[in-house]
Amino acid sequence: MPQPIASSEAPPRYPVSLRINGQSYTLEIEAWVSLLDLLRDRLDLTGSKKGCDHGQCGACTVLVDGVRINSCLTLAVMQEGKDITTVEGLADGESLHPLQQAFIERDAFQCGYCTPGQLCSAVGLINEGEARTRDEVRELMSGNICRCGAYPQITDAVLDVLPDGSDEDPARDGPVVVGTVPA
Ligand code: FES
Ligand code: FES
Repeated sequence: MPQPIASSEAPPRYPVSLRINGQSYTLEIEAWVSLLDLLRDRLDLTGSKKGCDHGQCGACTVLVDGVRINSCLTLAVMQEGKDITTVEGLADGESLHPLQQAFIERDAFQCGYCTPGQLCSAVGLINEGEARTRDEVRELMSGNICRCGAYPQITDAVLDVLPDGSDEDPARDGPVVVGTVPA
C-alpha cells in the first residue's frame, strides 16, 4: 500500500497588519485562513459566530472600514491595513452602543446566536444610509438570519436608532408575530 509522502515543510505564512477594535496587530497567517477563523480561533474574539461558514446566515458579520461583510467569506490576508470592528468593539468601554441598548429595550433576541451579526450588520446598514422605513430595514437586513424569529423586535430596535427612520407599519407596536421572516 502506498505511503503518504511525509513533509517537514510548514505551510507558508504571510504577514498582515491590521486594526481590530482599535488595537493594532501584526500577524503571520496561512493564505487560506478566513477572517472569521482569525478572529475566533487565533485572537479569541468569539463574538462573531460561525453559523454556516458559507455566506448564508450573516452570523459572522463584521465591519471592515465601516462596511459590513461576512467574515467567513473573506481571507484574513486580504485585510492588510484595514480597520475591523467586531461586536466586541461596538461599545465604547463605558456604555453600550445605542443599537445594543435598543436590542435590550426591544427584547430583540432570544438565544442570542445571531445577535452579534445582527448588531454589526445594523451598524453597517446605518453607515450605508439607504434604509428609512421598516420594509427597507427588513430588506437590507435580510442577509442576517434569526432562527428564533426575533425579526419584528430586531427591526424595531434598528428603527429606534436609525437616523430619520420612520415606521410605516401600524402593527409595529402590536402583538409580536413569532416566526415572521424578512420579505
Ligand atoms: S457563518 Fe458567515 S454567513 Fe454564515
Ligand atoms: S436570537 Fe436566536 S437565532 Fe436570533
